[in-house]
Amino acid sequence: MYSRCDLARHLFKVPTPNPNPKNTSMIKTEKIEKPINTASCSGKPCIALTFDDGPGAHTSRLLDILKQRNTKATFFVLGNKVARNTPLLQRMKSEGHGIANHSWSHANLSKLPANEIRSEIVRTNDAIKEATGESPIFLREPYGASNETVQSELRTLGMSSILWSVDTRDWADRDSTIVCHRATSNARSSAIILLHDIHTSSVDAVPCIIDNLTKQGYTLVTIHELLGKTNPGQKYYSG
Ligand code: NI
Repeated sequence: MYSRCDLARHLFKVPTPNPNPKNTSMIKTEKIEKPINTASCSGKPCIALTFDDGPGAHTSRLLDILKQRNTKATFFVLGNKVARNTPLLQRMKSEGHGIANHSWSHANLSKLPANEIRSEIVRTNDAIKEATGESPIFLREPYGASNETVQSELRTLGMSSILWSVDTRDWADRDSTIVCHRATSNARSSAIILLHDIHTSSVDAVPCIIDNLTKQGYTLVTIHELLGKTNPGQKYYSG
């Protein structure tokens, strides 16, 4: 779907070279980033697990693991994978998970004109609505790459953008022990943990992640539960 180089940029949040920096602002410098209100989750320490780039071959097994441990997560799905995975989307919804938008084709939205940005978002919203009856309100931009045009489209669509605070780099180290360690060793309340359910090793890490975080006293919640009410067009991150 993307080159090795692009994938590395994605996970390390490295900006792609941009001849006109005014058109692209990376997440670290966005003025409209909004910290998560840590009073969410009814005052209990809580963390959100998020899974990007699916659904895929390992998503069903992941849903089994989450169900077994009575744990909720949020899936940032790619629109082009939704129609052929309708039962998985329906299962996510019926088992209480969050479903959100990760664009149609994993495009770098910050490089696209407004009409193509809108198409990437709206096609995916429509596919999710077709599968589950509900249109998502959250987008995670591929590569975390956004700009004012993307935010403006999101504002128009009544959607917010969700980043992450813990990057497990599960794409680089396909080792469940390492992934679990990265996800849990610096746990803090309101963290958003980034994982990818397209890697079997990431799914293998999930029992360890859930058990470790639970032992540390955290409740695992969806992004919807973590954030409560959100403002369209704003970006949310944590810790
Ligand atoms: Ni992605």
